[in-house]
Amino acid sequence: MSEFEPTIVGFFCNWCTYTAADLAGTSRLSYPKNVRLIRVMCTGMVDPQYIIKAFLEGADGVLVSGCHPGDCHYHEGNYKCLRRFKLIQKYVKQMGVEEKRIHLEWISASEGKQFAELATKMTEQIRELGPCKIRETMETFV
Ligand code: FES
Repeated sequence: MSEFEPTIVGFFCNWCTYTAADLAGTSRLSYPKNVRLIRVMCTGMVDPQYIIKAFLEGADGVLVSGCHPGDCHYHEGNYKCLRRFKLIQKYVKQMGVEEKRIHLEWISASEGKQFAELATKMTEQIRELGPCKIRETMETFV
């Protein structure tokens, strides 16, 4: 039987983490290809609905990543993200999604190695958890 390969949706800030992912690639760092990148201009624009939709449409995990606190190109976008993230974490937990399936991390453009390590760690964690059951849970309400 083949090993479960999770799908992780990554919402990455254009200015930092998206560039770090690119750097990891150009530096030929190896990391699992399970993370599907979605480039956003700032983590502050990651609406909680995007995260819910990602899970409902097949994601087994969601990673949100952007500039370190104090480095946001839009001044406070990442602080807005942080506040929202804590709420969305509680919300998805109530929907039966394990906390480890959703993660927020600050990774700057020069931190390609950190990106590769995080992608590897998160893929391993979610592989251990198995497929996300949120779609089955939601079907019982329809
Ligand atoms: Fe990167 Fe705001 S511009 S988190």
